[in-house]
Amino acid sequence: MSNDGVNSGRRRFLVAATSVVGAVGAAGAAIPFLGSWAPSAKAKAAGAPVRVNISKVGPGEQVVVEWRGQPVFVVHRTPEIMEGLKKIEAKLSDPQSEASEQPAYVNPKERSIKPEVLIVLGVCTHLGCSPTFRPEVAPVDLGPEWVGGYFCACHGSRYDLAGRVYKAQPAPLNLPVPPHSYETDDVVIIGIDEETA
Ligand code: FES
Repeated sequence: MSNDGVNSGRRRFLVAATSVVGAVGAAGAAIPFLGSWAPSAKAKAAGAPVRVNISKVGPGEQVVVEWRGQPVFVVHRTPEIMEGLKKIEAKLSDPQSEASEQPAYVNPKERSIKPEVLIVLGVCTHLGCSPTFRPEVAPVDLGPEWVGGYFCACHGSRYDLAGRVYKAQPAPLNLPVPPHSYETDDVVIIGIDEETA
């Protein structure tokens, strides 16, 4: 089997990771993890956490930050997006994330602590490409039933805006939700929660 798809996926990820720096720099959403907070030895060994100021992410927008060498998607979901999630459950492979990776404190359907803030790893569960954020409703290339989501261009997997994979896709599972917690209403820390602190 050719591994062109995998290689192009890696290239995609590198491009995504590079563009993350620009996007974050422009939006000012990510804050270097400095200051008085002192992570435990366990947390340090696992990799530095990343703080994100979600007040800088506009409604319907996404910023991408890098955590442990992987892209993390942070989306400000609108009420319309949340309504769209409810409409498509019958088309999803694991709508309640029973088989997919996410912390126990995350709502199993919305896949978030706060409904309006989605945080998922931007790594396709098929072969690891980074899916593209496609929040538009019914774009020509994705069809009239598309309510917004992620499209993985490597082999065509589709996810909704909770990172839940549609049925009959190459990708078997939902996008993983990383451990995270809120330091304040506006600042979320990716990589730290009660278990990992
Ligand atoms: S890596 Fe194959 S569909 Fe995403």
